[in-house]
Amino acid sequence: MERFLLAIESSCDETAAAVFALDQPAPHPGSALCCEVIASQVAEHAPYGGVVPELASREHIKNLPVVVGEALAKAGADAAQLAAVAVTRGPGLNGCLLVGVEYAKGLAYASGADLIGIHHLEAHLAASFLLETGEQPEFPCLALLVSGGHSSLVLWHGARRYQTIAETRDDAAGEAFDKVAALLGLGYPGGPALAAAAEAVEPTDVGRFEFPIGVPNDSASFSFSGFKTAVQRAVRSCGALDQRQVRAIASAAQGAIIEALIAKVEQAIDSCSPRSLLLAGGVAANRCLRERAAESCARHGLKLCILPPRWCTDNAAMVGACALRILADGAAGAGRDARLKLSMSSRARWPLDEVML
Ligand code: KG4
Ligand code: ZN
Repeated sequence: MERFLLAIESSCDETAAAVFALDQPAPHPGSALCCEVIASQVAEHAPYGGVVPELASREHIKNLPVVVGEALAKAGADAAQLAAVAVTRGPGLNGCLLVGVEYAKGLAYASGADLIGIHHLEAHLAASFLLETGEQPEFPCLALLVSGGHSSLVLWHGARRYQTIAETRDDAAGEAFDKVAALLGLGYPGGPALAAAAEAVEPTDVGRFEFPIGVPNDSASFSFSGFKTAVQRAVRSCGALDQRQVRAIASAAQGAIIEALIAKVEQAIDSCSPRSLLLAGGVAANRCLRERAAESCARHGLKLCILPPRWCTDNAAMVGACALRILADGAAGAGRDARLKLSMSSRARWPLDEVML
């Protein structure tokens, strides 16, 4: 009987499932991936301009059985063939995590599958194992993890050893994109909308606005709150915004966010001497960030690892990739023990450096 791994992600506003085949020899996790199914909640949260946690949990309850059922059907697998169920345990929105974890516990208990609890940020990094073998990170790898909920710079030593070397003091980079987009009336989710407006800037308007981002002096933090106030002031001073002004402000704001990220990356390259740079998380889908990172890597002789946009934003394939590495290491999370499976809890706060604790 063929055996499969089912991976589930529900830590924020995407309900996602992925199925991996376990029996065929696979050179890397990406080649064992059978299918991915994702239900986005963008339409539900759009009227509120951001993710409403209670609404997100309810949507997960509704969507999860459908998404998992569809993923299993696409892979030609049934629950009895599940050798393992991997689920995001944290960090994230607690109600959302609870839905995924409790669902996975029930499924693993009923089907006799192993249960593996996954750290969401470790999964964002493990998404790089879905790439072809030659495109995967070389260690030590400097990982810029930038999403709607997190902004951190992590030195990944290989195996499961992670050292966070900078974190945001206030907003995450994706949050900065989303908030500026909201100020400009660009809708939700703001990141892609702000990037599109910035790309449409009139060439003569580049540099019309300037938003210096304070790169905090201590190398251990990012900060975006002062920047947000500066954009707010500029928007107010314009009065009724026309499209040309919107694009000019978007271009300056995107530039400032990205320069702040790249400045920290450059500092860390100098102090940590990594062999590769990995961009992960939703903001890693940004074209301008990818270009600036490519320039830095070329200058310092580093390998650049970038993922296709669907594996930058939240997805279940990254959860499965992380679980496959854990299984390959011989550790099986809660494993087969039924009592351990049923006692697994979500962890809304869970520093990446403590993933092994
Ligand atoms: O990783 P992700 O899907 O969810 C979290 O774990 O937060 O990241 C979502 C974030 C949002 O803030 C979204 O606006 C941002 O990633 N984002 C982008 C782009 N695509 C998504 N930001 C800038 N440029 C993009 N192209
Ligand atoms: Zn994420």
